[in-house]
Amino acid sequence: MSAAAVLKSSKRQVLLCPGPVNLTPHVRSILAATEMCHREPEFIHLLQTIRAKLLHALGLDGRYAPVFFSGSGTAALEAAVLASLDSGRKLLVVNNGVYGSRIALAARIHQLGLTEIRSPLTEPPDLNRIAAALKRDSAIGTVAFVHHETSTGMLNPVEEIAALAKKYRRRLLVDAISSLGAERLDLSKLNVGLCVGSAAKSLHGAPGLSFVLVSQEEALRVAKLKPRSLYLDLAASLKTQEQGVTAFTPAVQLFAAFHAALDELLKEGLRLRIARYRQRAAFLRAGFKKLGFKFLLEDKQLSNTLTALWLPKGLAYPQLHDRLKRAGFVIYAGQSELKGKIFRVAHMGQLLQSDLKEFLKVLKEIKESIPT
Ligand SMILES: Cc1ncc(COP(=O)(O)O)c(C=O)c1O
Repeated sequence: MSAAAVLKSSKRQVLLCPGPVNLTPHVRSILAATEMCHREPEFIHLLQTIRAKLLHALGLDGRYAPVFFSGSGTAALEAAVLASLDSGRKLLVVNNGVYGSRIALAARIHQLGLTEIRSPLTEPPDLNRIAAALKRDSAIGTVAFVHHETSTGMLNPVEEIAALAKKYRRRLLVDAISSLGAERLDLSKLNVGLCVGSAAKSLHGAPGLSFVLVSQEEALRVAKLKPRSLYLDLAASLKTQEQGVTAFTPAVQLFAAFHAALDELLKEGLRLRIARYRQRAAFLRAGFKKLGFKFLLEDKQLSNTLTALWLPKGLAYPQLHDRLKRAGFVIYAGQSELKGKIFRVAHMGQLLQSDLKEFLKVLKEIKESIPT
């Protein structure tokens, strides 16, 4: 396929997958227009500006330090996992979905000490089992979990897990890749040491840029760690980025696009951005209910950004996906044991109310065409 053909095929589709997301025209124009060398003052200024704006947009000024990685969310996640433990200590992973499993997998691959507390995909974490493990096992140094488990759309009980980590004096690592920008998350109040985020979801940047927010207290500990990876070394990246430089060639276009996206977030304000996501969720969910779709989760478990729905009888996922795609909408499949059973509709990024209305209209037509 020629580059021109790729461009043609990427003509605006409404992305209802949980990233990559539709970008605003301004962010897209900055992405396309940026050309700069990362060793020149303009990039140093850009990096310093983004570091400050990210913290400011999230209300974290002076309390956290961001560390960027040119890589998707998993890159920052792996860097955070690697830096989350002093030697000989264990990670307790609270796992109720595909992304909880991913944290555990990173720990396993790097042969870090690991304990998992698993719950079924449609259930919230078992707080009693977490408390018991923390009480019993003094080798556990860090509790890690996913804030918004994107494989099901479940918003995990961050305050309750944080309270346990505080009670038993353990460090907290939160994967907030799909929730930062869309959900309330007071990192400092919850005493989160390491929080992982991505530019490419509810912060409205382009994919391939991720970051770890490191609390001031954690930064002091992390600085003393021996490197466990060359590229994903949180301590080394923190040190260099504090001086406005990156150790390796950064994805400069993605940084510039993220800067534009952060400006838009700062203009809107985090509170209003979250409210906008909540309104979209309410609008879509009222539509799904009206059309008779059954939800995977209970209402009280749902995030502001994604809804998982059971596939109705007589409608296979590929059929649903392809019909929606022909109409210009991209949805997401179920993962793991939910593959072929559910479909997921996210509403992150630059979407218009008319996009959501049109989506529900097409979904209605598809639903009504299922033979009974
Ligand atoms: C909660 C969560 N964690 C981790 C990831 C992995 O991020 P990426 O695909 O950007 O590496 C995702 C991706 O959707 C996610 O939603």
